[in-house]
Amino acid sequence: MDLTPQQIVAELDRYIIGQQEAKKCVAVALRNRYRRQKLSPELRDEVLPKNIIMIGPTGVGKTEIARRLARLVNAPFIKVEATRFTEVGYVGRDVESIIRELVENAVRMVKIIKRAEVEDRAARLAEKRLLDLIAPPPGKSKGGGNPLEALFGGFADSSEGSANEQDNYAEKRAILKEKLQRQELEDMMVEVEVEDSTGTVPVFGGMGLEELGINLQDMLGNILPRRTRKRLLTVAEARRVLTQQEADKMIDMDEVAAIALQRVEQNGIIFLDEIDKIAGREKSHGPDVSREGVQRDLLPIIEGTTVQTKYGSVKTDHILFIAAGAFHVSKPSDLIPELQGRFPLRVELDSLKKEDFQRILTEPKHSLLSQYTALLAVDGIELQFSADAIAEIAEIAYTVNTHGEDIGARRLHTILEKVLQDLLFQAPDVQNSKVVIDATYVRSQLSDIMKRTDVQAYIL
Ligand SMILES: Nc1ncnc2c1ncn2[C@@H]1O[C@H](COP(=O)(O)OP(=O)(O)OP(=O)(O)O)[C@@H](O)[C@H]1O
Ligand SMILES: [Mg+2]
Repeated sequence: MDLTPQQIVAELDRYIIGQQEAKKCVAVALRNRYRRQKLSPELRDEVLPKNIIMIGPTGVGKTEIARRLARLVNAPFIKVEATRFTEVGYVGRDVESIIRELVENAVRMVKIIKRAEVEDRAARLAEKRLLDLIAPPPGKSKGGGNPLEALFGGFADSSEGSANEQDNYAEKRAILKEKLQRQELEDMMVEVEVEDSTGTVPVFGGMGLEELGINLQDMLGNILPRRTRKRLLTVAEARRVLTQQEADKMIDMDEVAAIALQRVEQNGIIFLDEIDKIAGREKSHGPDVSREGVQRDLLPIIEGTTVQTKYGSVKTDHILFIAAGAFHVSKPSDLIPELQGRFPLRVELDSLKKEDFQRILTEPKHSLLSQYTALLAVDGIELQFSADAIAEIAEIAYTVNTHGEDIGARRLHTILEKVLQDLLFQAPDVQNSKVVIDATYVRSQLSDIMKRTDVQAYIL
């Protein structure tokens, strides 16, 4: 959370090429959250986030910046497509569900932290329960099948429980305990009672209760018993499941909810993708009406309102909104003025050039080329790209983007797929295990297509 803007940009640089303006803009917005937290309480309430619109053609990194940002900062984050709310027949579908989902994400995050805090204690309790499962005290195992017998052969599960047998049992249990701790029984199967998560009461299904943020199981939790079912798991899996169960028992859910709500209110980030698709004023009928409807619905949560969730109410005043859109057909000025005003920062992303493609192919962590290299390595092929091949691919991507539709870096996917098509198909059965892709190879794979611009439109 206390990354400086430059550190944030440096971190984003590892995955996204160029687009410095956009990176700077989101980095500053994030840092401002941090700065705000350090202010006096009165002033803190006054400082509202400066929401951002990222404008740029398709495939230049808008969503990618948001995705990486989310992983980078430890803030509750959600990405939603604005178009989700415009589906026909769903005019103004419950926009508040965004906030509820954001809260769910935050709860999940906080739970992970809290679980880690109690993990040691939970693990010890789980180990105990696990031991009870593999070595149930004599008489307790229902209807034979005491795993102790399976392990030691003929351990008498007698209900008489003579002193001798008691000792016998204690001894064997101790041995098992040690084996368990040394992880020697990891593959043994045990039966574990787990909560049935599929169990929302079916009668009420499909009534959109989920959207209200009401979980019947929660509401009726005290009245109806929680549904459980038995699952056969290996000891290794059972340990994980039991530890989680024990940890969940120890976690104070009220505290988790309180922290999560606080985090959402203070640090939450909502990424509104495809915002250009809901731009357009109410001039005609049909879809436009619902578009403007969605914009109007979004207004209050961006402006600041209180949303009820099942964990409590959330004030949305300080949640940061980052919107993104290509704005090909519409412009930001086509948004209703109230919404425009709530996104004071506009930043444009550049369309990608040949040099950018060249870097995108090679530089980012897990770049496209390294992905293909790794994929083919599975089939025992050592794939290499010569520098002139990379230049050639970048060049072709750029050419096709300028002559045809500009689909940004996604063009690289279609081209690479074509270039490697034969190799990917023949993969395990090629002669040489070492394959070097050079410019000639690239050209030969694409020459037919490149000669005919009419075909390009379909293939690349
Ligand atoms: N500048 C970039 N650096 C590295 N990779 C990029 C860059 N731009 C795009 N990509 C890659 O291209 C793909 C598409 O990018 P992204 O999803 O960010 O597009 P977008 O700008 O959100 O487009 P759209 O408007 O269609 O949603 C991703 O796989 C991403 O990794
Ligand atoms: Mg996108």
